[in-house]
This record gives sequence, structure tokens and C-alpha cells, in this order.
Amino acid sequence: MRFFMVEQFCNTMRILAIETSCDETGIALVEAQKTDEGFIFRVLKNMLLSQAKLHEEYGGVYPTLAKREHQKNLPILFREFADEKVDAVAVTHGPGLEPALWTGIEFAKRVSEQWGVPLLPTNHMEGHLISSLVKDGELQNIELPVLALLISGGHTEFVLMRDWFKYEVIGETLDDAVGEAFDKVARMLGLPYPGGPEISKQASTAREKNTESPAKLPRPMITADTCDVSFSGLKTAALYALKNLGEITDEQRAAFAREFEDAVTDVLVTKTKRALKETGAKTFVIGGGVAANKHIRESLQKLLAEEFTYVEMRLPELSITGDNAIMIAEAALARALSGLDDSNMSDLRAVGNLSIAS
Ligand code: KG4
Ligand code: ZN
Repeated sequence: MRFFMVEQFCNTMRILAIETSCDETGIALVEAQKTDEGFIFRVLKNMLLSQAKLHEEYGGVYPTLAKREHQKNLPILFREFADEKVDAVAVTHGPGLEPALWTGIEFAKRVSEQWGVPLLPTNHMEGHLISSLVKDGELQNIELPVLALLISGGHTEFVLMRDWFKYEVIGETLDDAVGEAFDKVARMLGLPYPGGPEISKQASTAREKNTESPAKLPRPMITADTCDVSFSGLKTAALYALKNLGEITDEQRAAFAREFEDAVTDVLVTKTKRALKETGAKTFVIGGGVAANKHIRESLQKLLAEEFTYVEMRLPELSITGDNAIMIAEAALARALSGLDDSNMSDLRAVGNLSIAS
């Protein structure tokens, strides 16, 4: 990694960011000001086109289709930004689906060349993390270390930031990501993709009525002496339980969804408790698509209120939990205004499994 000062980016900067790592095509124009305590962001324009409906019949994201859609959507969205003036262009270069990532990279390269501004490759997970820390447009007075629980369709990881922009993965899933488990169990229950919000809806009905689940599910690795998690066993247990049950009523389906959501939440809460104790983090943040889940948010808030009163919790606004380009802009802006220059046009490529710790 290269660290050198970027003289021209004084204290304010405006970036156009492009996100195409999965099934959302996003472009955003964001401005940031560096202050003594951090950064103040102003989102000037934000465009997002979701392909979720198109991928529904596959029960997940279909890479070639995602690529084609991004190629179609990017120029349409870009029309709204064509007359803007920016200091740099940022683009997600990983992690994500490589064919999808490439469409964003190629497009961003052309824009940065045309506009004659630097191109800043940005890590998607860092985007989730940094943007989730932002509160009312401000990323200020954050006490380190920060512990982040990043939960999305492709990732589930505990990330520790002891120094700004230096990340250590202290726990992660050994198999499926939480979002993936939500999506697959939703499919087993006959619910549409993306399954997370659907399971959550069903589960909250069952919570209101307090209906009993027709099956009990395991809490994998909950007692293991590590911050790692595993969800494939839970998914398989759900599959067998449903096979055994055969036909189920709507009420039973909702109660089963609740049991699944409870199982995931129990694991995440227990592991968060362990991670907070182990790291002595002063700030805790959650990010990624699954961070929209009401039950998970409330359960983690309860844990902090009861056992970690000295830790400040940051919850992302619901509008930015899913993939978007604002998060890419904010991560790139925070880095650039801190004097970290990641611009490198020559070896910029899509890295499907890019780690936040790299
Ligand atoms: O971060 P994201 O938008 O895309 C990736 O980078 O993967 O996360 C998408 C995931 C999907 O698996 C979706 O089902 C899940 O986030 N998700 C939820 C909720 N909303 C979205 N999972 C649980 N509860 C929700 N309310
Ligand atoms: Zn994501």
C-alpha cells in the first residue's frame, strides 16, 4: 500500500463514486470537509438502481446478468452527473463479483480520464464500515479502537480498527455469510429474494403474536472460544427441520422465521460480547445489508446498554445499510483527506476476495 501526502486536496474535496460490486448500480456525488475532529460529509446527489427483482428467479445474484445490467445502468445514471466538477473519482474494486466490479472500474477509468482527475480504488467493506460510523453527516470525535461487525450477503466479519484505516479481522464466518443464510432459508420458506427483509417481516409478526416455532434450531459455535462464526450448519438444520415438518401453516412459517432470526441474533450477540471484551473497543458499529435487521439492531443495542455502557454504539441509517455509492465516496474522501493516496491507474483491477485488512 502507498501512503503519501496529496497536496492538492486541502481541507475540502468533492468526489464522484461508483459502486457495482453486486446487484446495485450506484453513483453518488459527495463533498467532505476535514475538521480538527474528523470529517463532515454532504451528499450532493445519489442515484441507485437495484437489480434485485431481476435476480429473484435465481434466488441470488447471477453474475453475468449483473454485469449486463450495470453496463446498461451506469450511462443512464451518469447523465445526472455529467456536468459536475470533482477532485477525484472513486470506484469499488473489491470485494464482490468480479464481472460486476469490472464494469464499474472500466466506467470509472473513462470518467476520470475524461475529467482529468485521479481515480481512487476503494474497498467495499471499508465503505460499509466508514459510512456506518457517520452520524448526521458527521464522522467526528470517534474514539478508537473501533470494533465493527460487518454483516452482508457476502461477508460476516468482526473488524478491529486500532488506528484509522488500519484493519484487523478478528473473527469471521468459516462458511456462509449471515445475509446468505437469510436468503437461503427464506427460499426454503418460499419467500422471495432478497430474503433478509422477508424473514424479518415474518419474524416480527411471530414476535407480536408470540407464536411457538414448530422446530428448534441450533446456535452454531456459540460456546466456541473464538470470534469466528459459522452459519452453514444452521442453514442445513433449517432445511432438515422443514423437510420433517412437511406442510406448514402461515403462522408456523412466521414462527420458524423468528426462530431462525433468534438463532442468528443469539450467535451475533454472544460473539459481539466476546469481541468487545477481548479488544477493549471504545466504539462499536455495525454495517452491511443485514445491519438493517431490526431485531439484530435492538439486541445489540440492549447488550451495549446493559454490559458495555462505556462503549459508544453507532448504527447506520437504514438508507445506507444496503449497497450504495455514498459509502464508497465517504471511505474514499476520508482516506484522501487524511493524506492517504491510493490512486493508482496502472494496476487497478477487480479483486473478488479483497480483504479489508489488505
Ligand atoms: O451489503 P448488502 O446490500 O450486499 C452485499 O454486499 O452483500 O447485503 C445484502 C444482504 C442480503 O443477503 C439481504 O437479504 C440482507 O443483506 N438483508 C437483510 C435485511 N435487509 C437486507 N437481512 C436481514 N434482515 C434485513 N432486514
Ligand atoms: Zn455490501
